[in-house]
Amino acid sequence: MATPRVLQWLTDHEDQSIERLMEWLRIPSVGTDPKHDSDTAKAAQWAADHLKASGFGVEIKQTGTEDNPGQPIVLATSPGDDDYTGPHVLFYGHYDVQPADPIELWESAPFEPVRKPAEGKVGERIVARGACDDKGQVMMYLEAMRAWYETTGKPGGGVKYTVLLEGEEESGSVNLERFVEEHKDVLGATDVCLISDTGMLGRGKPAITYGVRGLAYIEVTLTGPDQDLHSGLWGGKVPNPINELTKVLAQLWDQDRRITIPNFYDGVRELTQGERDAWNALGVNPEEALKGIGLPAEASIGESGFSFIEREWARPTCDINGIIGGYTGPGAKTVIPSKASAKLSFRLVDDQDSEKIAQAACVWFKERTPPGCTWTFENHGGGAPATCATESAPLQAAVRAIKSACGVEPAMIKSGGSIPVAGLLKTTIGLETIFMGFGLEDDRVHSPNEKFEIDCFRMGAKSHAALVDELTGLA
Ligand code: BES
Ligand code: MN
Ligand code: MN
Repeated sequence: MATPRVLQWLTDHEDQSIERLMEWLRIPSVGTDPKHDSDTAKAAQWAADHLKASGFGVEIKQTGTEDNPGQPIVLATSPGDDDYTGPHVLFYGHYDVQPADPIELWESAPFEPVRKPAEGKVGERIVARGACDDKGQVMMYLEAMRAWYETTGKPGGGVKYTVLLEGEEESGSVNLERFVEEHKDVLGATDVCLISDTGMLGRGKPAITYGVRGLAYIEVTLTGPDQDLHSGLWGGKVPNPINELTKVLAQLWDQDRRITIPNFYDGVRELTQGERDAWNALGVNPEEALKGIGLPAEASIGESGFSFIEREWARPTCDINGIIGGYTGPGAKTVIPSKASAKLSFRLVDDQDSEKIAQAACVWFKERTPPGCTWTFENHGGGAPATCATESAPLQAAVRAIKSACGVEPAMIKSGGSIPVAGLLKTTIGLETIFMGFGLEDDRVHSPNEKFEIDCFRMGAKSHAALVDELTGLA
């Protein structure tokens, strides 16, 4: 059996693996920003070259249309051994990263990765934008593939893989649905999707995430007077769009912190007692989690009737992500602005529909139009929630792989975050997804000083390597 030699290869070559990750992290592949289009192309090429060096057949595919091109997608395959009987696995990851702002809060440059000791804790970490989300996590898979190829000469260790790396995950995967439709022949031939873009239960506590939330994202703008006004001359006798907008926004939640939009909770699956008990048994400590972000225990607020973890994993929520309007420069300016707007996101659970929620929200705002004002809406897209069958053979193979690679049974968890591709693959080609992620709650994904612990990288790379063995054994 080759697995022990493959795992040994990962141990012996870990420094080089980390060096390669740092090289990839140096490419500032900010997918949302057109200024970085040449960098996203470079980051895609970098991953393609890595996969080629591990024996994969690789193509880089353009997305979008001629007039409106999207970020390239890396599509790679390993043929699988002739006698391979296990599932054809679609590994999905994203090479795009969030913008680095606010840049002044970084202790080292976001695209000059540093390897350094973990603050007061054992081990080391890599600090850079994308270190965890998602280059570091994709790299665990890429290095596991390299290890198998170097050790056995077999691409993918003999497993039949299709790899899809996209560059628009952080901007809502707007071109992915069309891409999936256009490549149904290749993608539809796969049996299960595998993603490393989620977290663990805690330090040294690997997990499989069996569900992520969906998302609906809208921007609402309220326009009042057709010009900005002197607040002394006009204030208190005409609508101030900021006053009116914030009053409407405040009505989004009732006394119990439930969302007031009619039919919002339609289709929301009730938690079963079995699930509640299983989650309670995980021993999540809300006080500790709150302390980690500078909050006291009494800050544990949310929809009444649900616990800290239930509010994240099983309940839909609404957040205002930004409010724009009026004078925000230095000093004072007595002005009534002509308009004000807010960016709103809804995290959704099974079986809520992202489009329907966005529409219901717009109707709700219209029913609350302040006198003389008008609303305009922009839909920023979203994605479906996804809950995965925990008893499936490939997921159980992943459980065994993590156990053999990390020496601990993985916890079964959910996440409040969203990975829209999972819902998309489920609805378009009927795929289940296995989320095998190794991030930590304090990795500061999307924030300044994002990091990834080398311990986590190591567990992930070994788990992906061990998964090859488990998949090979499946009928
Ligand atoms: N990897 C994250 C999502 C995530 C993080 C899931 C941690 C579970 C644990 C992903 O890159 C992300 O940021 N998703 C976005 C959604 C997207 C449509 C912008 C999100 O959740 O906000
Ligand atoms: Mn991600
Ligand atoms: Mn992200």
